[in-house]
Amino acid sequence: MAAQTEEAVLRSELRWVVVVSGVITVIMLAVLYAGLVHHINPPSNIETIDPKTLHLTGEFTEGNLGTRVEANGQITSRVVATQFAFQPQCIVLPANKRVTLRFATPDVIHGILVAGTNVNTMIVPGYVSQVHTVFTKNGDLLMPCHEYCGLGHSQMWATVRVVPEDQFKPGPDGRATCDAR
Ligand code: CUA
Repeated sequence: MAAQTEEAVLRSELRWVVVVSGVITVIMLAVLYAGLVHHINPPSNIETIDPKTLHLTGEFTEGNLGTRVEANGQITSRVVATQFAFQPQCIVLPANKRVTLRFATPDVIHGILVAGTNVNTMIVPGYVSQVHTVFTKNGDLLMPCHEYCGLGHSQMWATVRVVPEDQFKPGPDGRATCDAR
């Protein structure tokens, strides 16, 4: 059996360096492509909130929940996830417009996804979860809790009502609700 020369070993190792570098490069490019082109990335909004008082003061008080068009035209929906319901149960948003969803929870870890879209985030006590998206299809989309949060987990879901832009009619205070149609 011919012993491999040192040179042959080196050549073989260098070949593998090239192969492995190529594989890593392809994976990194795929990650960048998914993140930059398809906006598939982990939500990275690090914004803290006190879960014990979020219903008493600030933006997650009951009167401030749901969809609202801010003075600068930005459309934001705020939702509180609790055991075992979303408040509000339905949010209305216009299609083909950039919208922001903001979530907080006073109790345990929940999670949401909006069926048929790439909206998907955990809702962790102590943090505000924020997602920017553009809904392209009209209709009622199911938004279930997708993180086991207790016995009522399977009953925990909400609706995202996406309406054509010309049917999205916020009131004089900038608010839009599912009932007011
Ligand atoms: Cu909330 Cu599962």
